[in-house]
Amino acid sequence: MTALTVPTMSLVLLVGTSGSGKSTFAAQHFGRFETLSSDFFRGLVSNDEDDQAATPAAFEALKHVAAQRLRAGLLTVVDATNVQAEARRDFVQLAREHDVLPVAIVLDVPESVCVARNAGRTGRDFGPEVIRRQQGQLRRGLKALGKEGFRRVHVLHGVDEIAAATIVREP
Ligand code: CTP
Ligand code: MG
Repeated sequence: MTALTVPTMSLVLLVGTSGSGKSTFAAQHFGRFETLSSDFFRGLVSNDEDDQAATPAAFEALKHVAAQRLRAGLLTVVDATNVQAEARRDFVQLAREHDVLPVAIVLDVPESVCVARNAGRTGRDFGPEVIRRQQGQLRRGLKALGKEGFRRVHVLHGVDEIAAATIVREP
């Protein structure tokens, strides 16, 4: 079992390709309101979780809610792929503005597993090339996360390590 320490005063970014299990992981380890999902926010602003055109508005709303939560001293988890450095930068900045620690939890799952999982889902009908591109971005991100300002970087390699992980909150 791997215990991942997460400071209570933190902004946690889940990082992983589509199908890596971020939403599943969030549901297992964090409270209902602690997790802000980009899908959910796309739904809120457009009525369609899969409407990629709604992504900018969704993230604007998500960051606004994250800021409100951090101001209230509430641990907050961002459930989005977060595989691009530009996407992560805003959240590191947000954490700093609110004096909380940016933390990354990376779900590093083989491309084949993610592709197979998504094939069985409705609404995740983008092809394997999307997962491949995200995998490439993730690989580059793994080397960069520390320098980007994340104070803790937890990397879970593979399905078994993810299944065995627990979260330990530290005051
Ligand atoms: N899944 C699974 N076993 C796991 C984790 C996930 O079978 N240990 C399945 C889920 O039931 C879901 C799919 O794999 O059907 C994708 O998992 P999800 O948690 O939704 O992945 P995300 O990383 O959240 O994908 P996305 O970025 O597309 O939201
Ligand atoms: Mg998800």
